[in-house]
Amino acid sequence: MFDGQNIQLTRFDGGIVELCFNAKQDAINKLDTQTVTEFRQVTEILSAVSGIKGVLITSAKDVFIVGADIKGFDRIFKQTAEEIAADVLKKNDIFVAFDDLPFPSVVAINGFALGGGLELALSASYRVMSTAAQVGLPEVKLGLFPGFGGTVRMCRIAGPAVATDWVVSGKPAKGPAALAAGVVDELCEPTELRARALAVLEEAMSGQRDWRAVQRRKQAPVALQDDELKGIFDAAHLKAQGLAAAHQPAASIAVEMMAQASRVDRSQALALEAQAFGRVAKTQAASSLVQLFLNDQIVKKRGRQFTGQARPVKQLGVLGAGIMGGGIAYVNALRGTPVVLKDISPAQLDLGLTEASKLLAKQVKAGRLTQSAADQVQAAIQPRLNDEGLGQVDMVIEAIIERLEIKQQVLKTLEGVVRPDTVIASNTSSLRIDDIASALQRPENLVGMHFFNPVPAMPLVEIVKGSRSSNEAVATAVAQAVAMGKTPIVVQDCPGFLVNRLITPYVAGFLQLIADGADFEEVDKVMEAFGWPMGPAYLQDVVGMDTSVHVAEVIAAGYPERMKPVAANAVRLLVDHKRYGQKSGSGFYQYVAGEGGRLQKQHAPEAHALLAAIQPSGGRRFEASEVEDRMMLPLIVEAAHALEEGVVETPAELDTAMLLGLGFPAYLGGPLKYADWLGLTEVVARCDRYAHLGPAYQATPRMREMARDGARYHGR
Ligand SMILES: NC(=O)c1ccc[n+]([C@@H]2O[C@H](COP(=O)([O-])OP(=O)(O)OC[C@H]3O[C@@H](n4cnc5c(N)ncnc54)[C@H](O)[C@@H]3O)[C@@H](O)[C@H]2O)c1
Repeated sequence: MFDGQNIQLTRFDGGIVELCFNAKQDAINKLDTQTVTEFRQVTEILSAVSGIKGVLITSAKDVFIVGADIKGFDRIFKQTAEEIAADVLKKNDIFVAFDDLPFPSVVAINGFALGGGLELALSASYRVMSTAAQVGLPEVKLGLFPGFGGTVRMCRIAGPAVATDWVVSGKPAKGPAALAAGVVDELCEPTELRARALAVLEEAMSGQRDWRAVQRRKQAPVALQDDELKGIFDAAHLKAQGLAAAHQPAASIAVEMMAQASRVDRSQALALEAQAFGRVAKTQAASSLVQLFLNDQIVKKRGRQFTGQARPVKQLGVLGAGIMGGGIAYVNALRGTPVVLKDISPAQLDLGLTEASKLLAKQVKAGRLTQSAADQVQAAIQPRLNDEGLGQVDMVIEAIIERLEIKQQVLKTLEGVVRPDTVIASNTSSLRIDDIASALQRPENLVGMHFFNPVPAMPLVEIVKGSRSSNEAVATAVAQAVAMGKTPIVVQDCPGFLVNRLITPYVAGFLQLIADGADFEEVDKVMEAFGWPMGPAYLQDVVGMDTSVHVAEVIAAGYPERMKPVAANAVRLLVDHKRYGQKSGSGFYQYVAGEGGRLQKQHAPEAHALLAAIQPSGGRRFEASEVEDRMMLPLIVEAAHALEEGVVETPAELDTAMLLGLGFPAYLGGPLKYADWLGLTEVVARCDRYAHLGPAYQATPRMREMARDGARYHGR
């Protein structure tokens, strides 16, 4: 009946038509423009042809429909909110026409039916789901909510409590949960799916199932009393506010809209949904979160390009069983790579092993590992006080003390123990890979693998390519980071690599604000309200100020033309007074152990009194916008330098690293996406406004060129 690129229609005896999603050019089905166009065409055919009694909707792929084509969002976001609303409303006509077909329809959900995929399934009379499938409305993770009538149909099919829960959480559900929620009508084994769906269709065709009542319910307002609706939506509103990260309004806007839309008929409800969708699509969060999704694909693809050249790592060596080495050994063993863990101190080795066993016990308690699996992981870490076993390892990750001469000496000795092809990765945080390599016989085998603390929790690893690191060594480190479940980003060897380099001028911006009279607690409040998980003063306390001063000095020395030492340095002053931060009980704030041993941050009058000494003109208040700009602009400028120097290859990698390594606010999408959102013209104008603060605020010539050309980092 119809043989499209993505949809085929076949007519069977007995008036049954099968509508099959089967993208001929793709491994999966998506709800892209072509599919929507074809869905319109087949819906028109179905309404025009006589003798049809029922439609069975299937997929010929492993998935049903994975959702909208996110790459195509580019075009949508360029429109105004009104244009977006009009566009989705027009597309909604197709789903409405499908809803209203004069015969029943049943969807056989065989695999993922997410976002637009589930919305489409909701326009059928019934849904039969395979136990292998998952359904959900994950749009909120992209700063959006369903815009193809999904919020409207969910409220009427499964009720507003379920609808708001699914829209707000964005979590996918497996069969039993979807059935219990009333989102699907039947659940069965994958092998029985087609027969079961056909049986439901026949029941509807024969009148055993009242499909017309289902159709009427979808057209009318939600059949609940006003006070019931109020109770449900008030609770949903609280949940949306509690769950959403700062500056991510999609969930709250959706709940507000659904509350109104539940009280009106389908066409008015769809108009409300479209209007709110237009509004939410224009938010900064939507633009950034969609970019983050696309960045993730780019980063994964870059990772795969490397792994082809990787050497297999069947056995790993880790030097140093301290905070970092212990974590590195644990994660590798957990993920299936056996580890020889060497330390020179028996006490430290014990500490590393005890830490691993504590983490394993937690996994067992949480039901993620059986005791015997945990025992196997523990046994996969072989503790050593000597070099035994290191001759057999394919790769060594070094995590010993951060001193150049010691690292050089230890790694030089190691070269005599390991095989000539063993890759050596240093987890240095501030030394240059080239400097360490200069002492080695086989510098091509050395790379940097900069992990973040705590290793089990932090997803980022910067893979540092020294000027002599071989491609195989880099590829092996990339592959091992992936094997550990981490996201590797390859960076060139420069002081601070990427993340610490970019944070250094941000911290310097903070120090200058204090020196100019700002109150650090005010700065923290402003930056936390701006979206950072913790303000800069609190961050210094958490990192530990002695470490931070040292690292900042090493990095700043690498960029003397831009990163001038701040004369009145608040962090140095606090270090001089032995206020190192959380680890010493006080820093900018003071800390007391609260419930469950968690440290609680408290106001510390002494810190304010000390800092008054480096504020020669006294304290003064700053507008929030000035605080934000003085902190964020130098970070953006440094990001531009790093990209222009080729420290990373793509804006996607740079922004991803800052999100994963530092907790950069997701709604900003990363420093370069933030610059795109402001527009380069605006960024350059703001840089010029703060030019008196020094070269860290000076836009690069390339940034000025981009401003002139209306260019963007992320190409949209
Ligand atoms: N702690 C962090 O937040 C962090 C983050 C990223 C990178 N790093 C880097 O990781 C490395 C280790 O840092 P850490 O915080 O785990 O230090 P740590 O002091 O906790 O551990 C270092 C361990 O190395 C051992 N060691 C010293 N010499 C050794 C040798 N010759 N052979 C084997 N073991 C030896 C020590 O006994 C100690 O157990 C440093 O280079 C540091 O800069 C640390």
